[in-house]
Amino acid sequence: MITNTAPNIIFGGDYFPEQWPEETWKEDIRLMKQAKVNMVSIGIFAWALLQPDEDTFTFGWLDRIMDMLADNGIDVCLGTATAAQPNWLTQKYDDILFVRESGERVACGSRQTYCINSPSYRKAIRRLAKEMALHYKGHRALKLWHINNEYANKNSMCFCKNCEKGFQKWLKAKYKTLDNLNECWGTVYWSEKYFDWDQINTPRASAGGRNATKLLDYKRFLSESFFSLYMEERSVIREITPDIPITTNFESDWSKFDHFLFKDHLDVASLNFYPDPGNPDSYKWAALRHAMMRSLLGKPFMVMEQAPSQVDWYPVNTTKPPGVMRLWSYQALAHGSDSIMFFQWRASKKGTEKYHSGMVPHYGENSRVFKEIRALGNELKKVKNVAGTTVESKVAILLDNDSWWSVDSPYGHGTKSLDNEVFWSANSQPFPTVLVSYFSELEYYFNAFHDLNVPVDVIGIDYDFSKYKIVVAPLLHMVKPGFKESVEKFVGNGGTFITTYFTGFIDEHVGVFLGGYLGPLKDVLGVEVEEYDPLPLEGKNVIKMAAELDGFKKEYGCTVWCDVIHTTTAKTLATFGEDYYAGFPCFTENQLGSGKAYYLATRPDEEFMRAFVRKILADQGIRAPQLPEGIELVTRSKNRKNFDFYLNHGDTETEVKLAEGKHEDLLTGTIHEGTLTLARYGVSILRKTT
Ligand code: GAL
Repeated sequence: MITNTAPNIIFGGDYFPEQWPEETWKEDIRLMKQAKVNMVSIGIFAWALLQPDEDTFTFGWLDRIMDMLADNGIDVCLGTATAAQPNWLTQKYDDILFVRESGERVACGSRQTYCINSPSYRKAIRRLAKEMALHYKGHRALKLWHINNEYANKNSMCFCKNCEKGFQKWLKAKYKTLDNLNECWGTVYWSEKYFDWDQINTPRASAGGRNATKLLDYKRFLSESFFSLYMEERSVIREITPDIPITTNFESDWSKFDHFLFKDHLDVASLNFYPDPGNPDSYKWAALRHAMMRSLLGKPFMVMEQAPSQVDWYPVNTTKPPGVMRLWSYQALAHGSDSIMFFQWRASKKGTEKYHSGMVPHYGENSRVFKEIRALGNELKKVKNVAGTTVESKVAILLDNDSWWSVDSPYGHGTKSLDNEVFWSANSQPFPTVLVSYFSELEYYFNAFHDLNVPVDVIGIDYDFSKYKIVVAPLLHMVKPGFKESVEKFVGNGGTFITTYFTGFIDEHVGVFLGGYLGPLKDVLGVEVEEYDPLPLEGKNVIKMAAELDGFKKEYGCTVWCDVIHTTTAKTLATFGEDYYAGFPCFTENQLGSGKAYYLATRPDEEFMRAFVRKILADQGIRAPQLPEGIELVTRSKNRKNFDFYLNHGDTETEVKLAEGKHEDLLTGTIHEGTLTLARYGVSILRKTT
């Protein structure tokens, strides 16, 4: 259980009482009680009100609302208020604002304008965290700490002098000697050799392509800086309030820093998720983000924010039609969340985000949105036993930020516009193609399993693989020391390992593996890659099956990329049908111990993916329930008790076949046998009774 908040599923949202007169607070409490809100996150952006100048702390208003909430049985997730520093602080210290790659210091006037390595900012947040923790230690309402807010949302890259100094120090600790750094970075190229640590600047845009190892190291340095920034606050708070769990809310975009760095220092992982209601596939998008959060700590996570209806930052912000907020909330529970929380409680009257929906919209309590919120809050007591249960996945997809940053450089390889025009700027990093995208490839593989209702965890490359039967490593461009051994052990013990084109090109220092790409993974896959051929935008090749294989057709299409490969010990299951490498293998299988390792030298079409995923699931004895399009089934369980979440993301009423026996719907109490009819956007949570 995340906290002892009753009745177990946490329900509430970000609450900004400071935006409203105190008379409104009473009204808020009345409506929160109606909606069965049991936790709110407060204080998140209140720094200026909590500390109007360097030597004054003013907790009076926060005390009053904390007491009111406690008196009404509503728990508090207390924000440390550090994501938006007050103007007086920014103006007093000239190192606070972050510096863009162009060299321009950002102006104050928004949130997240701070530099993560600013000593003045770090000193100020430690002090604020200490004052808050001392002040609220033992408060009845305090159940959870929420540090900062969405790290890196706006300030993911800074190029200031403090970051430069920090980078030099970080490099010294990592490489020890300049000779070593010069060797690892390959600075012999283009006369880049460094003779003094002070000569190493931040890798800002230059006349053209830049040193790729330096770029990656800078990204790694900033990533670790985010983690150490979190630890600045966490250590202070932990010492003063050791019994209160601590979290920070992550965005659903994990490209900005390595989230796995946080894994041993979060008591609960928290997610903000904002799928686009205008996109019919948004539920697949959300399923992957939930899986990432669930897998991070391997236990129930928290949805800290979602929108009650529309947001205000997509180009067009459609509402969530009736039923969708409920459906997506249950989807989060299905995938392992123990909370349903929103941004924000009351839609703002003023300020930047006044067009964003709130649980209490501008229209007030008689609005459709509040009525849906109230209904959901009241319904949740029926599913309280779901809290603390988990999703058991036998399949894992590996996510590696170093590979991600090497494939989709945060410094830009050029981008593809909506109408498929490819842009290439003078500062883009030299690269084989802008048409590969690390995360899209990961998403492609995730969806192939998710479409068959097979749960997938998303884990780091150094996680324990032994609890899984299938491990997929899409586009694992960088192969680091130790990884080959983990894969060999996993496959040797009966696991199925899958990897794709453009994997194993570089080592941890971004040096290319010579004598055949795949480098250290050549043996486990029984394959060597000689050359690669990125395909043009509409370019295609053909996957020709080498022999009849159960469940497969004779031919499929493929796009994006073709590797020209040779097998050593692997069996060729399919070859390319076209181009000068027609007849060369593109889909191989290598037996190692009692397991198998597959290589896909291209991006196969969806039909192939379905056949392939079905085959490996069947080989490993993993169930893939057949359900109509748009129906999602996810099971949470504990001690052999299962909760089957059936979610209808489709547009029409749909009937699904149930497993044998009687199933009780937790939400309605109805007993279902044989089939279940799900209304449009309908949800059923079934527990087998016989
Ligand atoms: C989140 C942020 C919230 C709010 C919300 C609006 O990224 O944490 O404070 O701005 O977006 O959708």
